[in-house]
Amino acid sequence: MKEIGVGLLGFGTIGAGVVDILQNGGELLAERAGLKLTLRRIADIDIKTDRGVPVDPALLTTDAESVIADPGVDVIVELIGGTTIAKTLICKSIAAGKPVVTANKALLAEHGAEIWALAAQKDVDVSFEAAVCGGIPLIRALREGLVANRIASIVGILNGTCNYILTRMERDRLAFDTVLKQAQESGYAEADPSLDIDGIDTAHKATILASLAYGFQVPMGAVHTEGIRGLAPIDIEYALDLGYRIKLLAVIRAMDGEVAVHVHPTLIALDHLLASVGDVFNAVLIDGERTGPTLYYGKGAGRYPTASAVVGDVVDLARNLAFESPRRVPVGIRPDRHGRVREMGGVVMRHYLRVSLLDKPGVFGQLGTVLGKHGVSIASVLQKEVRADAYVPVVIVTHRAAEKNIQSAIDEIDATDITGSPTVRIRIEDF
Ligand code: HSE
Repeated sequence: MKEIGVGLLGFGTIGAGVVDILQNGGELLAERAGLKLTLRRIADIDIKTDRGVPVDPALLTTDAESVIADPGVDVIVELIGGTTIAKTLICKSIAAGKPVVTANKALLAEHGAEIWALAAQKDVDVSFEAAVCGGIPLIRALREGLVANRIASIVGILNGTCNYILTRMERDRLAFDTVLKQAQESGYAEADPSLDIDGIDTAHKATILASLAYGFQVPMGAVHTEGIRGLAPIDIEYALDLGYRIKLLAVIRAMDGEVAVHVHPTLIALDHLLASVGDVFNAVLIDGERTGPTLYYGKGAGRYPTASAVVGDVVDLARNLAFESPRRVPVGIRPDRHGRVREMGGVVMRHYLRVSLLDKPGVFGQLGTVLGKHGVSIASVLQKEVRADAYVPVVIVTHRAAEKNIQSAIDEIDATDITGSPTVRIRIEDF
């Protein structure tokens, strides 16, 4: 049986999961892959901390480059994260002709073009199943299973931390800050939660999915990104009253030769499948030209779901090496292809508006006039009786309107003296 040597860069939570699977699941992997995988070296800046997985100390080193240079190492697994050292090491591995498995979404979203160009030039595989939605084999679905399809849209819940926070806010009627604090205490959110709650992690994943689906590197800077920080419980309540649930969604959609890619809190109908995806789970709906809608659901984070995706890629690349078929499945993101990302102002959706409206005769008419002036048509209005307040929350659901029209209407409404605080706007996804 052929033997392929694996070198691991980064012995953190996921790295330890990979080591565990390789060391304890070797027989099953060998049987399925038709080759033997041997973990030869592990590099980390900290090789003293106990990772909860027994390893032969002789495998450990602080020198990542020596792992890449080791002639017994055939496949490199990069689990360091970040966009500096990890990038240098991945480029060195590719230059050395050694295929790479990475879970590094930030790196691929921000520097993918460079990595794909180098990989193509050197004819070396770079696999990244673990970079998007951890244990869900989504990248493989896009690169292989759906290859016969033009992709109409990809809409998904890509961040478990945000989904957990939103689920708890609704279920336990808690404020955002309270749930975030509890999530940090129980390990569901990072000490610095910005990447997750500000939507950046979702945007990284959306960038990778959009690039794969449309064959060109979507620039991360072109992805309109809003997170869930400060989302008010009152909007969760109003949404439920209207028959919707709020989720942080990534929306990727082909539109007249362009692709729209945006991330923001979004109302989705309660009877839609994605509305029932709770807690830390992720789910992604891919609408293929031939398949119609297909749905992928599972855990998008955590040691073993993510390590499972990493090991799946290791097996794949090991087979490519053992059976001499490098780049058997092309990445599909062509370094020489350029596409257009739609400006957010041109994205058309329905919208939920919560206006803090002065409780005086005639102001409703004024509000309707401003919306009408900007071409925004009202589909429904919800106003609950609130006594003894100068301003009352009025919730408006609009018909489909371009983002730029909605924004100019909101700007004008908020500049008048009929509102007490800035209007809250949440987009509605109609699938
Ligand atoms: N922090 C991410 C999440 C997982 O909460 O889903 C890694 O991207």
